[in-house]
Amino acid sequence: MPPATATARAHANLALVKYWGKRDAALNLPATGSISLTLEPLAVEASVSFGGGEADRILIDGEPAEGEEGERVRRFLDLLRTEAGRRERATVTTRGALPRGIGLASSAASFAALALAGSRAAGLRLEPPALSALARRGSGSAARSIFGGFVEWHRGVRPDGLDSIAEPLAAPGHWDLRVVAAVVTSARKAVSSREGMQRATASPFYPAWVTEVEADLAAARAAIRGRDLEALGLVAEHSALTMHAVGLAARPPLLYWRGPTVECVHRVWALRAEGTPAFVSIDAGPQVKVLCEADAAPRVAATLGEVPSVERVLVCRPGPGAELLA
Ligand code: PMV
Repeated sequence: MPPATATARAHANLALVKYWGKRDAALNLPATGSISLTLEPLAVEASVSFGGGEADRILIDGEPAEGEEGERVRRFLDLLRTEAGRRERATVTTRGALPRGIGLASSAASFAALALAGSRAAGLRLEPPALSALARRGSGSAARSIFGGFVEWHRGVRPDGLDSIAEPLAAPGHWDLRVVAAVVTSARKAVSSREGMQRATASPFYPAWVTEVEADLAAARAAIRGRDLEALGLVAEHSALTMHAVGLAARPPLLYWRGPTVECVHRVWALRAEGTPAFVSIDAGPQVKVLCEADAAPRVAATLGEVPSVERVLVCRPGPGAELLA
């Protein structure tokens, strides 16, 4: 029998060109491609073991998983059992270095770690592209967290999604950028990214979003290759702001920002006007993430930290792909 227990670690990622909207909701197939940077130290460790017990046991950060969060992991275990031809129930524990459900991509790190640990524990030995496709089923953005550094997730055209996988564009060491994340509130978000994407795709602005993404992807790839922060930052900022603009025009409207979110954006723009290249990105939550060079990170962190009601500021660097720990 293959080993029935495995532990893996994966890191969150920040999308520089966002994934926002699906072409197939059941398979988490995206309407467009996306490009991200995997982030140290935003890691999640997951252990999975099959066998024993009448029901799946899922502990997230030491607490039994409840509601939709637990259901997502359970559905993912069912998928693993189907792929591996196993029937036993599983015990899953995940532990993260980051708060969950507030827009810091904890689900990307969790499902990438679960895909690696779960597939090994179930006796499967998947290559990174297949792992990426598996992680995608748990959370779309998890497809990218299988790889380190700069990563592109391809939209793919196949109805079964087998070509909708991520691949590395450049290793973490290619470019020592920083992402400074300002946590403006650690309250859990009211609208999940799943729900947000559904609303956004019904927005009258959604077709414009889809049309723009190809050009953004090409510009981001070139900027990463040439280590051109100005070019990459402007694309990343545009992608994020356009994503949120689409939501504003939806019915019902979608607005993840809080007051301090807007204040952080203005402070970053002021820094830029004074000559510090720094560019904002915002995901499905109120937190603000700022892309900058390593030597500018302390200045950016201090500026964000001064914004009233910013709870904490985290400085992240390019991180590695998913790794097996045991
Ligand atoms: O992977 P999900 O379903 O959590 O969606 C992620 C959506 C964004 O973080 C807003 C964008 C992205 O590409 O990561």
